[in-house]
Amino acid sequence: MSEIEQRLEELEQLGLYRRLRLVSGPQGPTVLIDGKPVLLLCSNNYLGLADHPRVREAAAEAAMRWGVGAGASRLVSGTMTIHRRLEEGLADFKGTESCLLFGSGYLANIGAIGSLAGAGDTVFSDELNHASIVDGCRVSRAEVVVYRHRDVEHLMWSLRKHGRRDGSRRLIVTDSVFSMDGDVAPLEDIAELAAMYDARLMVDEAHATGNLGPGGRGAVAEAGLEREVDVIVGTLGKALGSYGAYVCASAEMVRYLINTARPLIYSTAPPPPVVAGALAALNLLRERPHRVERLRSNARALRRGLAREGFPVADGDVHIVPLIVEDERAAMRLCQEALERGVFAQAIRPPSVPAGSSRLRLTAMASHTASELEMAATVFADAAHAIGLDPTSITPALPERQRTFEELDEREPAYAERGHGELRYTELTVLTHERAGADEESSMPFDLERDGGRAPVLSAAETAASPAPTHDQPTEEFNVELDIESTDHAAATAAETSAADVPFDFERELHDVRAA
Ligand SMILES: Cc1ncc(COP(=O)(O)O)c(C=O)c1O
Repeated sequence: MSEIEQRLEELEQLGLYRRLRLVSGPQGPTVLIDGKPVLLLCSNNYLGLADHPRVREAAAEAAMRWGVGAGASRLVSGTMTIHRRLEEGLADFKGTESCLLFGSGYLANIGAIGSLAGAGDTVFSDELNHASIVDGCRVSRAEVVVYRHRDVEHLMWSLRKHGRRDGSRRLIVTDSVFSMDGDVAPLEDIAELAAMYDARLMVDEAHATGNLGPGGRGAVAEAGLEREVDVIVGTLGKALGSYGAYVCASAEMVRYLINTARPLIYSTAPPPPVVAGALAALNLLRERPHRVERLRSNARALRRGLAREGFPVADGDVHIVPLIVEDERAAMRLCQEALERGVFAQAIRPPSVPAGSSRLRLTAMASHTASELEMAATVFADAAHAIGLDPTSITPALPERQRTFEELDEREPAYAERGHGELRYTELTVLTHERAGADEESSMPFDLERDGGRAPVLSAAETAASPAPTHDQPTEEFNVELDIESTDHAAATAAETSAADVPFDFERELHDVRAA
């Protein structure tokens, strides 16, 4: 048996084997799986824009106008007018001076963290941050101090313990809405700590954009912290229905990232059709913010339905709702039982979530109807009973775990030196560190050369030698407007509706909800 086969078998035995599930049709409220229509309850197409006729048209039109590929890195010939246009729209939407597109949220996080922290610097990272932040921390080669989930006291304690060394930089990084739990970071407190301890603050709004804040501008805007947060990362692949990502920040920060963020410098620019699709989605979101209201009311409907069935789910507006069943196999079985009853919510297992917290991660979309979500809640209760699970007995979403400084000091000797990697999931209650060059095998330090096989992060001298930024000098004049307004949307919508598995009329549904 090859080493690879062995590893695959091991994953199978641990209940951690993954396979790709084929879904037919667009990411609408209903998809076909094995030819059978099922309610889709695990897509990040939160606002239903990925398959919106105007978004599709914009992408198709851009392909005809600009072609499919961007042809080069942003720094070579890849900065096209459509990129600039979306950047301007996003900066305006997020209330920042400037914006920079990246190939994906994963790349944006790697790039931004890698630019803002390096060897000798310190990154303070929430223990449940997304894997792309974790990987950004690893690649940066900075010391990484992982603080307990949403625990402001622990963050403050960590900032005190890890005093700033001469000339070194400090970066606090957090998701705003946590991807697997749907809870929200205490951004105001974190921003205050960042100011007190002279640290930069980076917030990943991947799951907040399109739901939280005025008009869906995100949690940073909701808290009015646009000026306090140094780097806002967002993805175009979720509420904005497309692919790619962005960093919203000051003009100075954007110029810095253009000069230092390796995933931007060394990777082809996002393709014009996906950029145009995201721009059309952004315009739709801004023109019709009731879509955001609808997502929030659907989130509430899903939560209410689940609570009625006995699941320990709290009220709230956030559209991500975990059903934590703990055991990996139980999560898979629950997923299968629900699927057989017509609802699809993928089981999420380690390392995507901490060991012992496998779950179904449910996501409401604006395009669901309240009755679909209620039906789904009943299906999950039936599926739970079918596998011998009492909905009332499942683990509630993570409780708040604030600690006093005294408690933290007392526990200090027990803290393990660990990487912000695979092991971070095994003990949620320990402070974990990662130090570049740590040599203890069990601490599993990330060794860039060994594990990544990549070249080191650019030094200041190397960066200075990089190609000159082209961001401020577009490669062509933007003389052709993207005409997404003049299309016959009614005809497109009718065609779309007849092709869909389940007809969905957003305006009608909204009217019904309001009337109810
Ligand atoms: C919090 C968070 N950040 C970043 C990403 C990565 O974004 P993308 O899918 O655009 O690579 C994700 C994706 O799930 C995420 O949940």
